[in-house]
Amino acid sequence: MLTDATRRTQICSKRNSNRINPAKNFVPLKSTISESHNGSVSAETLLATSLADAGKASLRQALSGARTGPRSLLYHSSSVIPHLQTSRLLLCPLELADAAQAQLLFPHWEIVRYLAKVVPWPYPADGAHTYYRDAVLPAMARGEAWHWTLRLKTEPDRLIGSIALLKDERINRGFWLGLPWHGQGLMTEACEAVTDYWFNTLKFQVLRAPKAAANVASCRISERSGMRLVAREEHDYVAGRLPTEIWEITAEEWNAGRK
Ligand SMILES: CC(C)(COP(=O)(O)OP(=O)(O)OC[C@H]1O[C@@H](n2cnc3c(N)ncnc32)[C@H](O)[C@@H]1OP(=O)(O)O)[C@@H](O)C(=O)NCCC(=O)NCCS
Repeated sequence: MLTDATRRTQICSKRNSNRINPAKNFVPLKSTISESHNGSVSAETLLATSLADAGKASLRQALSGARTGPRSLLYHSSSVIPHLQTSRLLLCPLELADAAQAQLLFPHWEIVRYLAKVVPWPYPADGAHTYYRDAVLPAMARGEAWHWTLRLKTEPDRLIGSIALLKDERINRGFWLGLPWHGQGLMTEACEAVTDYWFNTLKFQVLRAPKAAANVASCRISERSGMRLVAREEHDYVAGRLPTEIWEITAEEWNAGRK
């Protein structure tokens, strides 16, 4: 049996990474739970990584650990989360096994300070594992969230960050990147891929994202992608209560900007 890593590498090598516009430069890679379960399970799950049996095992283990109920309930969500890619990145559906690498990269003040106050700080030693197991994976299984880990195509085994889409009134997209990879345009690329997925695959009509006004890099990503600043509020972050900008874009605006 091929390992996850081997399969990812094979997938990368099959794809042409020389296209220019990252917004048009991601391709959903094969991933359906129905394939892996001979269609016996209804629909798909956002957790259906399906690139390796090992991945599915860890998924099932994660979900049973999260006490989400009998297996039939785990696969009811209405769409499948695919692997995506940009010119430099692989976006892989998040698995519980990713927690170990995330735990090493995530707990840094520069990463957490402008994240919502719900992020525990100081970050506990099992913070990533607990969060993935108890919040992220169950939300993905319910069809309320789509989380991907980010990997460079040149180093597909190494997690460098994460991005998520969320079915929520107030926040629909969130992301973080490990410090060594900041400032290289990587999150701009990842955002273009998942935002396009939000509008053109999931078919939502609006994407909304609140950001601490001091989070220049994140606000810049919104601005550059054509989002509009629609409100100013105050929100609670790990760093405290801060002025916040609410950014928004509609499907129509997004697609007009891509023509
Ligand atoms: C926000 C974050 C993901 C940006 O990732 P990134 O890959 O470094 O961003 P990019 O390289 O795509 O840069 C995006 C824009 O921000 C600018 N930028 C990047 N880092 C910056 C910094 N430290 N200060 C000011 N501007 C910055 C870039 O120049 C770019 O602007 P441009 O398009 O005008 O050139 C990263 O800083 C991060 O992980 N921060 C911590 C987590 C976080 O705040 N998440 C968002 C919560 S809303």
